[in-house]
Amino acid sequence: MDKDVYILAIESSCDETAAAVVKNGREVLSNVIYSQIALHTEYGGVVPEIASRKHIEKINQVILQALAEAGMELQDMTAIAVTYGPGLVGALLVGVSAAKAISFASKIPLVGVHHIEGHISANFIENKDLEPPFVCLVVSGGHSHLVVVKDYGEYEIIGRTRDDAAGEAFDKVARAIGLGYPGGPKIDKAARTGNADAIHFPRAKVGDSEYDFSFSGLKSAVLNYLNSCQMKGEEIVMEDVAASFQKAVVDVLVEHSITAVKKYGYRKFAIAGGVASNSGLREALEAACGKEKIAFYHPSPIYCTDNAAMIGTAAYYEYIKGVRHGFDLNAVPNLKLGERA
Ligand code: KG4
Ligand code: ZN
Repeated sequence: MDKDVYILAIESSCDETAAAVVKNGREVLSNVIYSQIALHTEYGGVVPEIASRKHIEKINQVILQALAEAGMELQDMTAIAVTYGPGLVGALLVGVSAAKAISFASKIPLVGVHHIEGHISANFIENKDLEPPFVCLVVSGGHSHLVVVKDYGEYEIIGRTRDDAAGEAFDKVARAIGLGYPGGPKIDKAARTGNADAIHFPRAKVGDSEYDFSFSGLKSAVLNYLNSCQMKGEEIVMEDVAASFQKAVVDVLVEHSITAVKKYGYRKFAIAGGVASNSGLREALEAACGKEKIAFYHPSPIYCTDNAAMIGTAAYYEYIKGVRHGFDLNAVPNLKLGERA
């Protein structure tokens, strides 16, 4: 492609209202994120109805700011990209409706993007040399997947969670130990001063799969431990619980990931999603990949949690393949990876 491709990307699948301008897939010209976290904290988690209303309030402002910070006009854009699934239906609809309206009014083509494809593509932003094929661990609030990225936009899911997502386990355990929402970053911080060997929590094996995950047993083990301490009148050292829980999650994620990379033989491994910003996970993967001589790629924390730059990057590779969406594009809350509307 000899002409530069500028993509205005929009993301509103959960509790971040975000817009970004991305040039030729890997150069982020602006990345505006309005986080609703403070708004949902008092409820202990994301309230879908509140999320949708806030997206409506903020979306135009966030889009205008993304264009302004990139120093560009809408008419300079090559395509308008938007996350259309998976996510909260009411939240997704706000972004999808805004993108369709802008595309219709400006006659700029529309490209719908899968949210997880966005998370995976976040790795391309700062790692200019990274190209498929590679193995990617996607760990977010709603998903835990081990994915073989065969080519741009082509995925094979080789492992998935059988129950809770990794981020969900972080959020639930954080609530149980009184850290509140959002749990991941708070457990990450508390774990730094705790003893990870203080309590032995189970590392769940899923009998018939080398790569699948299960985190609900671990969550129950933490709750049982807390109950039993309370009944016996024993002191609960919150930092030790956080560190021991985090280690149990990290051990399983690292073991499954390294097994997969060795089996597929690509020697390239990336991580994505909100939990990928966890410092314990990053350190453990750094060490394990170093030992096995596997190149380890990870986005900066700002590109791990929900943002629109990653959607712009994913959209670029879809766009150059010829993917375009019509005005019948709808929000698909349970959209499968690799599936296209
Ligand atoms: O990718 P993301 O922003 O949204 C989804 O697509 O789900 O991920 C949010 C999840 C939350 O569960 C949050 O607790 C978790 O990522 N998270 C973390 C950390 N930062 C965010 N989990 C562990 N350690 C962190 N530092
Ligand atoms: Zn996400």
